[in-house]
Amino acid sequence: MSEPGNHIVVENLTMKYGDFLIQRDLNFAIKRGDVFVIMGGSGCGKSTLLKHLIGLYEPAVGRVLYDGASFWDSSSEEQGALLRRMGILYQKGALWTSMTLAENVAMPLRQYTGRSDTEIQDIVDYKLALVGLSGFQDYYPSEISGGMQKRAALARAMALDPEVLFFDEPSAGLDPVSSKLLDDLIIELNKSTGATVVVVTHELASIFSIAKNSIFLDPDSKTSIAFGPPKELLESSKELKVIEFLTRGERQR
Ligand SMILES: Nc1ncnc2c1ncn2[C@@H]1O[C@H](COP(=O)(O)OP(=O)(O)OP(=O)(O)O)[C@@H](O)[C@H]1O
Ligand SMILES: [Mg+2]
Repeated sequence: MSEPGNHIVVENLTMKYGDFLIQRDLNFAIKRGDVFVIMGGSGCGKSTLLKHLIGLYEPAVGRVLYDGASFWDSSSEEQGALLRRMGILYQKGALWTSMTLAENVAMPLRQYTGRSDTEIQDIVDYKLALVGLSGFQDYYPSEISGGMQKRAALARAMALDPEVLFFDEPSAGLDPVSSKLLDDLIIELNKSTGATVVVVTHELASIFSIAKNSIFLDPDSKTSIAFGPPKELLESSKELKVIEFLTRGERQR
């Protein structure tokens, strides 16, 4: 698993809330620069897995490695350094509502860099331009659409030039057009920055358009039952549940 090209390696991971088992025995690797999708039906543990990948929860069993370094075996300084290389877009509550978009994006820069106000302003303008929000610096989140809020949150997640970007259901609550725009933006940013992108989603359109590789979590057996590019899984997976999921049930019923 520690072969070159692997960015994040999940080893023998079992996740629990107290005694409640969510998923067990997960073993997979996410390659550097890939767009990797975590898929599965509601409640199977996708967000839980994401939270383990960003160091928010400690594994009940197993390890998560970044470039070979195990997060929970690292010192708090090393953990801090690993965390600063991650950009995260949560499923809910993306932006600070009492701050303008510029202030939102500037926040991590003020917190973690010693940059001057002018430098920060330049970076903020650049990041907002990257997500198509030039000119919206002084708007508050409540004054823009849901799709624009997601893009602003993405600009903030990218403020510190992360090596890996995590998204939890990026298109939740968006109309199909805004959702497609966000998918296009994710692909574009992955190409232009080379960042590894990990996306939790059950949106089929997103899965097929963005994923280079994926893992499918099964809520019944409480482990992964498929790993690979979604198009290949659709063609050759022997798992009915996976085919059903990838065809919205149309092929099996
Ligand atoms: N903090 C928590 N404490 C206890 N149980 C939790 C907690 N968070 C989630 N769960 C439970 O763990 C299971 C997996 O939840 P999770 O949110 O990871 O699923 P998901 O696949 O992301 O679902 P969705 O598609 O609805 O977002 C669910 O049964 C959920 O109720
Ligand atoms: Mg979730």
